[in-house]
Amino acid sequence: MLYKKCVRYTAFMHHESVLLSEVLALLSPKPGERVCDVTLGLGGHAAALIACAEPGGTLIGLDADEKNLEEAKKRLQSSKVSVELHHANFRDIVSVLQAPVDVLFADLGVSSPHFDDPERGFSFRNDGPLDLRFDQTSGMSAAEWIAVSDEGVIAQALNDWGELRGAGRIANAIVRRQPKTTKALQECVEEALGWRGKAAMAQVFQAVRIAVNDEMQALQSLLAAGPRLLRPGGRFGVISYHSLEDRLVKQAFRALVTVQKDPHTGQDIETAMYRLLTKKAVVPGEEEIERNPRARSAKLRVIIKTM
Ligand SMILES: C[S@@+](CC[C@H](N)C(=O)[O-])C[C@H]1O[C@@H](n2cnc3c(N)ncnc32)[C@H](O)[C@@H]1O
Repeated sequence: MLYKKCVRYTAFMHHESVLLSEVLALLSPKPGERVCDVTLGLGGHAAALIACAEPGGTLIGLDADEKNLEEAKKRLQSSKVSVELHHANFRDIVSVLQAPVDVLFADLGVSSPHFDDPERGFSFRNDGPLDLRFDQTSGMSAAEWIAVSDEGVIAQALNDWGELRGAGRIANAIVRRQPKTTKALQECVEEALGWRGKAAMAQVFQAVRIAVNDEMQALQSLLAAGPRLLRPGGRFGVISYHSLEDRLVKQAFRALVTVQKDPHTGQDIETAMYRLLTKKAVVPGEEEIERNPRARSAKLRVIIKTM
């Protein structure tokens, strides 16, 4: 009955949130619960999650992007639960959350406005300044990061976060040409890889974005802190969009649900405080991918704190 209410609510929303019904079914917020969405974006998942937490629930929402936070605020203002929004990076979740929560949720990465607005520099399909920051109020833009980084650092980032062959050649072109726009970065890749450049573009932009936003470190901080911020019975769900992120989530969750054994007796030393609600990652069905191609690489993993 409650679940139906949440799904009905989402039918009014104008942009599609990834794996929404799966997120609602697994995180299953109850009336009165405290829900924290650390990647609010346009507030799609959050609106649906808190519709289930009525009456009496609380939403704590974070986003590193001020513009998205403003949009989410507009969407959530008519909500019947108490709403608390923070312009913050989820790596700082411990200092933002004042008390434990029943539901903790992260939908990692980029939102549609990031790709749609050429001024943000996320899309190689439009020319614009090479920025690529989620939080434009702090840190270095991608152009500034390139200006202060040596060739080895850039090659390492392209190799680690883009899993690119030819990372060294691309880094060399980048350092020589010092691109300030998305088009100029594309030209560096084309110069280095020739006809193979086009196919590598998405990986190059992904690698630079991960480096500029220090995304892997932020995710590691969230995965380390998140489980301890759950109330008994609390659920923690993460949607990731590439294998590097998913590997971190999978490893962190697996470590939490693994029972410690005494090496001599083989007896359990202590019971695990967490249980996996997703034995395998949940992925979108064909229908969702057809409606929303951005969902195609999504993987959802969820744990529950059992005591
Ligand atoms: C995929 S979108 C979320 C979409 C949202 N679930 C919805 O339904 O509208 C990811 C959001 O996370 C934000 N973000 C990415 N990394 C972040 C971080 N480390 N801390 C806080 N927000 C972050 C981005 O600015 C973006 O708005």
